[in-house]
Amino acid sequence: MTARVRTYEPDRDFLRVRDFLNATYAAFPMPYNWGLERWNYARYFVAPMLGSEGTEPGTPPGSLSAIRLWEDMVRLWEDDAGQIVGVTCIEHPDPTNPGYGEIFIQRHPDHADLIEEMVAVGEEVYIDPKRNRTHMWTFDGDDDLNAVLKARGYVRKEEAVSGFLEYRFGKVQELRLPQGYRLRTMEEEIDIEKRREISGRGFNHEDPKDWPSAFSYQELMRAPDYRKGHDLFVVAPDGSYAACAIVWYDAVNKIGHLEPLATHPDHRRKGLAEQVLWEGVRRLKAEGATWMPLGGAFEPFYRAIGFQEVATQHGWIREFAAHPMKT
Ligand SMILES: CC(C)(COP(=O)(O)OP(=O)(O)OC[C@H]1O[C@@H](n2cnc3c(N)ncnc32)[C@H](O)[C@@H]1OP(=O)(O)O)[C@@H](O)C(=O)NCCC(=O)NCCS
Repeated sequence: MTARVRTYEPDRDFLRVRDFLNATYAAFPMPYNWGLERWNYARYFVAPMLGSEGTEPGTPPGSLSAIRLWEDMVRLWEDDAGQIVGVTCIEHPDPTNPGYGEIFIQRHPDHADLIEEMVAVGEEVYIDPKRNRTHMWTFDGDDDLNAVLKARGYVRKEEAVSGFLEYRFGKVQELRLPQGYRLRTMEEEIDIEKRREISGRGFNHEDPKDWPSAFSYQELMRAPDYRKGHDLFVVAPDGSYAACAIVWYDAVNKIGHLEPLATHPDHRRKGLAEQVLWEGVRRLKAEGATWMPLGGAFEPFYRAIGFQEVATQHGWIREFAAHPMKT
């Protein structure tokens, strides 16, 4: 069967790609494709955030152009019947971001034949123009993709290694927060200012200019798979927010995802991240989820609380002498 590549039409394709990711997530020995949380988060949070960190009210033009750039870069492959059989995309639509130049390919188990073409298209469209390079993360056991990368001149970076972890849901303990701390969700309390502050401070950004803008947080809340009751935070005794986590439910595969999780530096090592995560797990489990995968995460924390490493991923880089379109 042949497959043709085309550009992405946001209104028509966002949910079609989400459904393709759901349909293929469990089709490989490891999740080679993104889960629905990453697809939602890239479009509805990372793009608007990179385009408008800071405090501007309203609809910052920077956010809209970053969203547009992200959308312009998605490519879809469809078969003769019009079904999606492959997708390429990026995660950081900002050429100054260190993640720029990264290629993500989302594929169909019956179409290993498209991998080479998807990587080639990714190189043309996503190359970092300043550093003339593209990079990817792959599972060590992903022989089809790793063989293509090797043949195309990618070098595996031994130091760029990351564990892929999972947690199989068992009995989840009762909520145990330190005295004076309370757990809330966006269902009970919506304070965008405090919520964006903990999103920034939790990732060690002290300057409010580096926090996600109010607009980007509102965009996130519009993501099709976002649920207010899955957006959790811990309120400190003084009323500020001390930790936060968002969980996402993939009902097709009965999987709970986590993106993101963070604790304010002043409140770390009090068990808050662990507690907010277990509360998310409790909610996901009640809906039917049976496990949680986790890639590219801060491993010491997750290992300490019981996640198991089940695979390893490595970064691969290809350096180009010049832009591939110009060679
Ligand atoms: C990782 C992070 C969420 C942990 O938050 P926290 O509220 O301090 O974590 P907890 O107090 O619940 O830690 C539970 C256990 O995890 C382990 N742990 C937590 N932070 C750790 C660290 N920096 N190094 C090693 N182990 C750590 C410990 O075993 C800890 O138990 P202990 O304090 O009794 O030893 C926090 O450091 C953070 O927000 N970092 C920046 C954002 C980030 O990296 N988020 C995760 C991205 S996937």
